[in-house]
Amino acid sequence: MTKEFTLNNGIVIPAVGYGSYKATDVDGKRVISDALRAGYRYIDTARFYRNEDEIGEAIEESGIKREELFLVSKVWPTMLGTDATRESFEASCKSLKTDYLDMFLIHWPSAIGDDPDWFKKCLEGWQVMEDLYREGRIKAIGLSNFLPHHIRPLLEEATVRPVVDQLELHVGYMQEYTLSYLQKENILPQAWSPMGRGRVLKDARVGLLAIKYKKTPAQILLKFLIQRGVSVIPKASSIERMCENKDLFDFELTFDEISKLSCVPETGWSGEHPDMIDFSDRF
Ligand SMILES: NC(=O)c1ccc[n+]([C@@H]2O[C@H](COP(=O)([O-])OP(=O)(O)OC[C@H]3O[C@@H](n4cnc5c(N)ncnc54)[C@H](OP(=O)(O)O)[C@@H]3O)[C@@H](O)[C@H]2O)c1
Repeated sequence: MTKEFTLNNGIVIPAVGYGSYKATDVDGKRVISDALRAGYRYIDTARFYRNEDEIGEAIEESGIKREELFLVSKVWPTMLGTDATRESFEASCKSLKTDYLDMFLIHWPSAIGDDPDWFKKCLEGWQVMEDLYREGRIKAIGLSNFLPHHIRPLLEEATVRPVVDQLELHVGYMQEYTLSYLQKENILPQAWSPMGRGRVLKDARVGLLAIKYKKTPAQILLKFLIQRGVSVIPKASSIERMCENKDLFDFELTFDEISKLSCVPETGWSGEHPDMIDFSDRF
């Protein structure tokens, strides 16, 4: 079973990365230092998370070589534009104490779901990301929270193909239409909230599988996604949970188990939909 996924530009990434949203809220950089100690080398952050400084400091203190890490950040949709996107990228690099990012994503296609100008702004941002990619400042560029109707027009104009689309995916919210579109277009689906931010950990079907395989519900949820061809970026606060969330490769769910978990009726959705959000006052 794969512990890695290969992006459409040939870059290999770990199947499990560390998701850092709200991770530093209570104890600052300590959590990031623990994630590095637990063996995570892929760190997911975003300008919006306001924790890139702590991540940069934890990395510096760890002594881990830059080339051993895979650092991912994101540009917030109100910062999509020729100057603004470059500014956001440079600010992320400065905070993370690096001169390049391994991956840079557009966080949402638009800050307001029904913004009629969303595509113009997105394309401007994307073209800056393409320039940074060609300049060698970003190793891979991608998307987050893009649905097929956002990706199709972008693919028509793009000269560099997005490598991933990071979106809410977990048992009870598998977005099958988008998932099959991404797989057809060779764009890696990546799950945010792979455990539904805790909302699906108590599902009885998941619990039975945890007993069968002597694993935890978290491990069943994460392994399910990886077996579905989805990379995961779980967030955890203790080193024990961080290690648990990476210890996924000594068991395999069967076809029928994958099918049952894929067919769980909708549950645990965050309530955030790219066509319906209004995040204009969030950044
Ligand atoms: N692109 C986007 O728009 C977007 C949106 C949301 C999230 N994300 C990214 O995705 C990452 C993960 O998503 P998320 O943080 O929303 O949700 P998540 O990873 O599904 O769930 C995190 C929650 O699960 C708990 N947990 C972690 N490991 C556990 C375990 N082994 N057993 C029991 N509980 C466990 C954590 O508790 P403790 O912290 O107390 O351990 C936390 O409350 C984020 O950190 C962020 O990097 C991206």
